[in-house]
Amino acid sequence: MSEHVLIRGGTVVTAEHEVRADVLVSGETIAAVGPDLDAPAGARIIDAGGAYVMPGGIDPHTHMELPFMGTVASEDFFTGTSAAAAGGTTMAIDFVIPAPEEPLMAAYQKWRGWAEKAACDYSFHVAVTWWDQSVHADMETLVREHGVNSFKHFMAYKGAIMCDDEVLVNSFRRAGELGALCTVHAENGELVWTLQQQVFESGITGPEGHPLSRPPEVEGEAANRAIRIAEVLGVPLYLVHTSCIDALEAVTRAKLEGQRVYAEVLAQHLVIDESVYRDPDWDRAAHHVMSPPFRPKHHQDALWAALQSGMIQTTATDHCCFCTPQKRAGVEDFRKIPNGTNGIEDRMAVIWHHGVRTGKLTPSEFVAVTSSNTAKIFNIFPKKGALQAGADADIVVWDPNKHRTISAKTHHQNIDFSIYEGMEVVGNPAYTLSRGRVVYDDGQLNTERGTGRYVDRPPWASFWAAQKLRNDLSKVSPVERVLPTAESEG
Ligand code: URP
Ligand code: ZN
Ligand code: ZN
Ligand code: ZN
Repeated sequence: MSEHVLIRGGTVVTAEHEVRADVLVSGETIAAVGPDLDAPAGARIIDAGGAYVMPGGIDPHTHMELPFMGTVASEDFFTGTSAAAAGGTTMAIDFVIPAPEEPLMAAYQKWRGWAEKAACDYSFHVAVTWWDQSVHADMETLVREHGVNSFKHFMAYKGAIMCDDEVLVNSFRRAGELGALCTVHAENGELVWTLQQQVFESGITGPEGHPLSRPPEVEGEAANRAIRIAEVLGVPLYLVHTSCIDALEAVTRAKLEGQRVYAEVLAQHLVIDESVYRDPDWDRAAHHVMSPPFRPKHHQDALWAALQSGMIQTTATDHCCFCTPQKRAGVEDFRKIPNGTNGIEDRMAVIWHHGVRTGKLTPSEFVAVTSSNTAKIFNIFPKKGALQAGADADIVVWDPNKHRTISAKTHHQNIDFSIYEGMEVVGNPAYTLSRGRVVYDDGQLNTERGTGRYVDRPPWASFWAAQKLRNDLSKVSPVERVLPTAESEG
């Protein structure tokens, strides 16, 4: 690996602007961005040839090698971050998910061990799945000593990792004391549970039962509940995988009232609709079983509009792969199909093709929603999500004219299916650099096990100051009164 890389002749795109400039990488960081930079002796020169040069993608929502629903996700931290690099994504924020009663610190250490094989940088949200004083204490240890600044709450998956309102309230309050951001998977788990039994008992046992048991109202209710709990407690909130108008309405209402709410959308919810569950081929239908499920088409238009208008700030994949034999655990009962779909390799191209090439997003907006906004919300900007001197050299050289037909036969993801099978996308990476290493080199994947690093995310992102000021200004003081006594006149 040469110590210097000069990316010459491209258009640098950041969330702020587009400019013709060269980019000089020294070791693991960006040394300079500017016109006509000189190449140091021995530098590798990449001719960008008019392509775009952008911050590498950050996927804020992945599940590598997750133990879930009786099996383990097939994609591990090495294969998953390698596939990410092939698609222009250079960092993933994955999830530590402790089983109920499992100490948070023990789960965290376990996931850190699994992730040592990663080929690109990564970090962890930690899920709060239960509550007691040890959880209260471990949250502080994670924030103060282990670079965790976000906690996840599953409002669904009853009987497994679901949290009730008591856990939500305790955890949101604690996160507020620590300067950490709460995130939620918003679905009313009690309703999902009831509907699952009803649908199954009505004789619907196949994957088409999955969306019937998780209608948009179930997501809308939970989104609104989490948002209102956060409002009352005076903490910001981040909604993962917002998939429907019902949840968007809750987000929009809160934002228009001035509440600090962030929302994420998955690339797949923007382009795939619920008709997939009626596929006569059981395997194909089952491969789309994820939560929240794919929705009727009109929800997609609303999600795009929300992304364009800034109601949604980030895009993710929820990359959680299960191969066909794993999905078949639910062949007689849709409730047993492990939930999850692929996509870390495809997010950038799918959003470019369907977003930038249709005039919904500018290239700068694309950078914002695929990288910079996530870096800002999770407080790692400008080390990540920026293309400027001093930033980590996580870079993608993006060829807007490169065609690719997505297929499980050619992708790098460790899954025997692709939810995007046969989709042609125009706009793909030519080169990807991960902290200065050229890990995707003109079609050749050169990732190495263990070269990815854990990224510490400090608490008290800049939005907290505003949140606290708002909380202080809305404090109500008691009324000073002379209290009546038994003798005073009534
Ligand atoms: O179906 C999904 N999304 N599986 C992964 C776990 C989650 O809910 O994010
Ligand atoms: Zn989820
Ligand atoms: Zn998830
Ligand atoms: Zn073509």
